[in-house]
Amino acid sequence: MKRSFRSAVLAVLWAPAAMMAQNSGNVLLVHADVAKDTISRFIYSQFAEHLGHCIYGGIWVGENSPIPNTRGMRNDVVDALRKIRVAALRWPGGCYADGYHWRDGIGPRADRPRTVNATWGGVTEDNSFGTHEFMDLCAQLGCEPVICGNIGSGTVEEMSDWVRYLTSGGDDPMSRLRRSNGREKPWEVRFWGVGNEAWGCGGIMSADFYANEMARYSRFLNNYGGNALCKIASGGLQEDYHWTETIMKKWGGADGWLQGYLGGYSLHYYTVPDWNRKGSATAFSERDWFATLAATLRMDELVTKHSAIMDRYDPEKKIGLIVDEWGDWFDVEPGTNPAFLYQQNTLRDAMVAAVNLNIFHRHCDRVKMTNISQMVNVLQAMILTRDREIVLTPTYYVFRMYAVHQDALLLPTDLACDSCAAGGVSMPAISASASRDREGNIHVSLANLDPVNAKTLRCTLKGAAPAHVSGEIITAAAMNAYNDFDRPESVNIQPFTGAQLHGGVLTIALPAKSIVTLQLTAPR
Ligand code: AHR
Repeated sequence: MKRSFRSAVLAVLWAPAAMMAQNSGNVLLVHADVAKDTISRFIYSQFAEHLGHCIYGGIWVGENSPIPNTRGMRNDVVDALRKIRVAALRWPGGCYADGYHWRDGIGPRADRPRTVNATWGGVTEDNSFGTHEFMDLCAQLGCEPVICGNIGSGTVEEMSDWVRYLTSGGDDPMSRLRRSNGREKPWEVRFWGVGNEAWGCGGIMSADFYANEMARYSRFLNNYGGNALCKIASGGLQEDYHWTETIMKKWGGADGWLQGYLGGYSLHYYTVPDWNRKGSATAFSERDWFATLAATLRMDELVTKHSAIMDRYDPEKKIGLIVDEWGDWFDVEPGTNPAFLYQQNTLRDAMVAAVNLNIFHRHCDRVKMTNISQMVNVLQAMILTRDREIVLTPTYYVFRMYAVHQDALLLPTDLACDSCAAGGVSMPAISASASRDREGNIHVSLANLDPVNAKTLRCTLKGAAPAHVSGEIITAAAMNAYNDFDRPESVNIQPFTGAQLHGGVLTIALPAKSIVTLQLTAPR
């Protein structure tokens, strides 16, 4: 925060709020008069891979299961996910995508081949969940599909046929095959990933080689009828800015031959302070809390730097930055299959989600979609399942509380705040973002990252005169509080009464380690 801005903000806030001036270190200015960019609902998208019990057991139980289901999809899971308004769902991977052959997952289930999931644990894959099931899941969730195609071990023909199978209404072999499998009308599929992590599990390619492959594949991924594909290129490894430069140059540089083929550019970044010591999801210290949140805050730097490169080639921001894998990644729960990536989810995960979502909101001019990893039973999941039971995680509740920002107009914010520190890590104590919805309500989301100290935040809204404030909060007594099958609602959303509105200034008492969303309504 630049000193000049900080003084200016303090000057604005100081006069009307002098009577409450004990804690003046934290100030937030919401520019309610500058609403330009929309927070795409697709920032609230998810990722579901054929990995552990994400699909099998977590979502898909089959039509003959005693677990209540609709055409094989668990009703409890679908109902819970509908409440957080999942905007889009990415499938079938991840690393799994570049070994997946879509023809294995169509036709009568009894005839589908039993294959091996070589990416995740070498388990048997019976292919009972395939293309038709995925499209049905999206319809049940009310979300759009994001299909990630296989360039690592597939062919151009295979991927191009898949697009035709899904989206063509013509009289061609792929449409006829789809019809023979029970689906008369083509589906609409907008988002199409051309490979996944092409630098690694997707084929160990160089940036140049991948750029060529991306163009070659894309050339044959056609639009049929009214369907218009937004093709998403694989990004490089986290801070591989050279990769971004290479793809963008091919798109908009002098040769610019990816033009017309590129709609999105993918970035993957997981919150992992140390890949050699990921640590327990539940048994962690204050030092770990700080290390994790500091690692999460790096997302801002990555998005900023990748966006700056994209801006040079695409100043009109036609290409979306698609953060199609993000979230935290801890050790698997003791006694579970290490290849299944099953981890618990605490208040720390809720904080990771809130901080990332605030970052994505603030960059919504470029960030057009993000997909948290992963939806059920894997990594930073919304839902954990055990046979018939389900648990909604603290991360789920953040997505539920933050849903008010979907398709709302971003209100830019300026924040000056204390820092907090432990274990040699220092970070800003507060994370914030704000938006205005279609009804004119303003929502301000705040996270107090400090696990020990409450914060008082004074907030002014420039260009708005709200008459009423209400709010919701997610917090708990312990940093590592979590929901489990025997205590499913330990961490959830509660009413928040710690915000006072006086003379147009909000004074907000944020408890330590809390996430708050305020709703400000205009006079009626
Ligand atoms: O989400 C788990 C894995 O992480 C994905 O399959 C891969 O794309 C990433 O490396």
